Amino acid sequence: MEPFVLANEHVHLAMPTAADVDRITELCQGAEIAAWTTVPSPYTRADAASYIEEVVPESWRTGRGSTWAIRRPEAPEGPVLGMIGLALDTSPTPERSAEIGYWLAPEARGEGLVTEAGRIVTDWAFDDEGLGLSRMVWTAFTGNWASRRAAWRLGFRVEGTVRGFGVQRGVRRDAWIGTLLAGDPREPVEPWPSAETDGDLAGIDVVSRVPAG
Ligand SMILES: CC(C)(COP(=O)(O)OP(=O)(O)OC[C@H]1O[C@@H](n2cnc3c(N)ncnc32)[C@H](O)[C@@H]1OP(=O)(O)O)[C@@H](O)C(=O)NCCC(=O)NCCS
Repeated sequence: MEPFVLANEHVHLAMPTAADVDRITELCQGAEIAAWTTVPSPYTRADAASYIEEVVPESWRTGRGSTWAIRRPEAPEGPVLGMIGLALDTSPTPERSAEIGYWLAPEARGEGLVTEAGRIVTDWAFDDEGLGLSRMVWTAFTGNWASRRAAWRLGFRVEGTVRGFGVQRGVRRDAWIGTLLAGDPREPVEPWPSAETDGDLAGIDVVSRVPAG
């Protein structure tokens, strides 16, 4: 598939290029990105270069994935603010499913940018004119409430915790898993978890930090 731009009034998404390597190297040094994703740590310029110049174009070319750099629409040539991508499974259409992943620069968090990016990516992915997917999956290592909040806003239903689901730098970690089906509403469909409804919340005061809705 040829890489293409997705954009609306909130976000501008385009395949990252060699010009973004230094910025991505800098951002992937961030503590939260290291803590919650599987990028190498420490993260080197060579890691960013092989990701941007080999992994991302190859996944577009083979149709196995689509990755976009997130920027603001008023600064489509400005510094990268984050990354969002889909990794597709190998089922034949129309049964295909894709996993969504994302991260943001610290200065771009807290304003719904990744939710907006996720919205146009999921709309395209489910659209028959796009990928025509039947299902999308979100996973995050347990405790990644910021990621879960964005997935919740997009309509993902968290269906459970899978023990030892993901491997991060050689260590297995538990993960939450959620799904969004083609016909699902693309908005929150379940109450944001509270200490009463979710046993995973031991010790986390979610109710007072994040009002529902
Ligand atoms: C995940 C990420 C992209 C979300 O970015 P964002 O949507 O701009 O938002 P924030 O990080 O500000 O947090 C999102 C929401 O989660 C809430 N949240 C954050 N930490 C929380 C916690 N410990 N408990 C409960 N809620 C929490 C915030 O209050 C915020 O809620 P709001 O949107 O209603 O105000 C960003 O935090 C990030 O890049 N994290 C590091 C990389 C990462 O985890 N990627 C995902 C891997 S699965």
